[in-house]
Amino acid sequence: MASYDLIVIGTGPGGYVCAIRAAQLGMKVAVIEKRATFGGTCLNIGCIPSKALLQASERFEEVTHMLPKMGVNVGKPKLDLPTMMKFKTDGVDGNTKGVAFLFKKNKIDPYEGTGKILGAGKVEVTGNDGKTQVLETKNIVIATGSDVAKLKGVEIDEKRIVSSTGALVLEKVPEKLLVIGAGVIGLELGSVWRRLGAQVTVVEFLDRILPGMDGEVAKSFQRILEKQGVAFKLGAKVTGVDTSGKVLKASVEPAAGGAAEVIDADVVLLAIGRTPYTEGLGLKDAGVELDQRGRVQTDGHFQTNVKGIYAIGDVIAGPMLAHKAEDEGIAIAEILAGQAGHTNYDVIPSVIYTFPEVASVGKTEEELKQAGIAYNVGKFPFTANARTKVNQTTDGFVKILADAKTDRVYGCHIVGAEAGEMIHEAAVLMEFGGSAEDLARTCHAHPTRSEAVKEAALAVGKRAIHM
Ligand code: FAD
Ligand code: NAI
Repeated sequence: MASYDLIVIGTGPGGYVCAIRAAQLGMKVAVIEKRATFGGTCLNIGCIPSKALLQASERFEEVTHMLPKMGVNVGKPKLDLPTMMKFKTDGVDGNTKGVAFLFKKNKIDPYEGTGKILGAGKVEVTGNDGKTQVLETKNIVIATGSDVAKLKGVEIDEKRIVSSTGALVLEKVPEKLLVIGAGVIGLELGSVWRRLGAQVTVVEFLDRILPGMDGEVAKSFQRILEKQGVAFKLGAKVTGVDTSGKVLKASVEPAAGGAAEVIDADVVLLAIGRTPYTEGLGLKDAGVELDQRGRVQTDGHFQTNVKGIYAIGDVIAGPMLAHKAEDEGIAIAEILAGQAGHTNYDVIPSVIYTFPEVASVGKTEEELKQAGIAYNVGKFPFTANARTKVNQTTDGFVKILADAKTDRVYGCHIVGAEAGEMIHEAAVLMEFGGSAEDLARTCHAHPTRSEAVKEAALAVGKRAIHM
């Protein structure tokens, strides 16, 4: 029987990073993956393919809306959707093969099949050919990720009623796309198909988009998306979709109940969140406890209630983000090697890769208010930034929240082109417990969009220069 120091079940960003870090630290490591390629949701059907389509569709739209303003006239763009899809698939392949290369380089044994925990120290792998084998190990890390949350009355067929997975492989641009859920997936993939020509309506249960994001940021972003042509129905719920005709008919009711209206669509995208994935893992028999929301319950050090069995990533509590899973993967590998592995949940950036992007790290204004923390706000609009002005990408602003007494930065929120790159200077600052004054006194290259971050920091002390 093969024997290991560590077996990781699942090779998403949590699992594969954990395996590599553990191998770097001298452990004998195996990974088990039931999908044909490594990289999990993120690389195969999540972060990576969605970003490829966001990139390609943004370029497509730029040809009409931006390039002529710059004197670059290339005529009306013609969509070649199969080639755009190939661009996406090539990008995915490059990334998944990269993980296979890293496993080899780090001498990690990969097992193709479904992993089932037989108890502490024993994992059974059922290969895709049905054959089983049992592996022995000192430690097990569960990194099995998450799956699409379902909605009664809206049955996914991945053709006309799709989850994000189906929305990444549509064979033609729908005339009308109805998105259920104004969260990250709905807004990113809604943006892709709108840019390519679909009429997009987003139905959201709450009276705002992007719950959890800073309220002012969400409001401003909603206005920007509306200007781009996305229609929102907030405070509303889809109670069912009639699939009997050529056109889908969705029944939409006010969230609080009331008269329903019918919205026609060619494709419905269900994007109301994701649920932890633990199917077939044998957790019940192994005695591993789940919390009320079906997530694997862990202590502050990723250990489940069973000694030697740990869990990370989407399958445990916390934001369902690839980099959060990666950080946890590194932390648990270091803990198992006797080091002080740690994930700082106060500084996990979050980015929505639309145009403009939305990026956020740390506390929102709503959270600070609720916690009764006195804070100052520094805000700077991109309309006053030289680089965005000259590039004519002035939508959005930077907002910094700092302690009213100590000036320590609690949060940074940005709507704007390339916000997802800019947010990291705030993240580094916050990791070091820095103040708005520290940021304001850091020299920023001119002309860059990042100068808006410095100006927002200056604005905390009411002394922005260009406003
Ligand atoms: P996963 O990536 O879900 O990987 C789990 C793996 O475990 C899977 O490959 C699965 O096949 C395997 N598995 C499950 N059970 C077993 C078993 N019993 N035996 C063997 N293998 C098993 N996050 C971001 O940070 N940025 C983004 O831009 C982003 N975009 C996204 C876009 C979309 C459309 C979606 C759906 C998600 C996106 N996410 C993004 C979220 C991100 O994909 C997840 O947070 C991340 O993949 C979680 O990593 P993980 O390692 O916990 O699990
Ligand atoms: P989400 O949690 O971001 O948004 C779901 C939305 O659906 C919420 O606004 C919620 O209020 C709404 N909703 C819930 N039930 C509803 C109903 N019955 N009718 C109408 N609206 C309803 O979930 P989403 O967009 O599915 O994404 C899943 C996860 O994937 C997220 O946790 C996110 O972190 C991750 N992800 C991250 C990305 C990124 O980092 N750029 C990109 C895509 C996904």
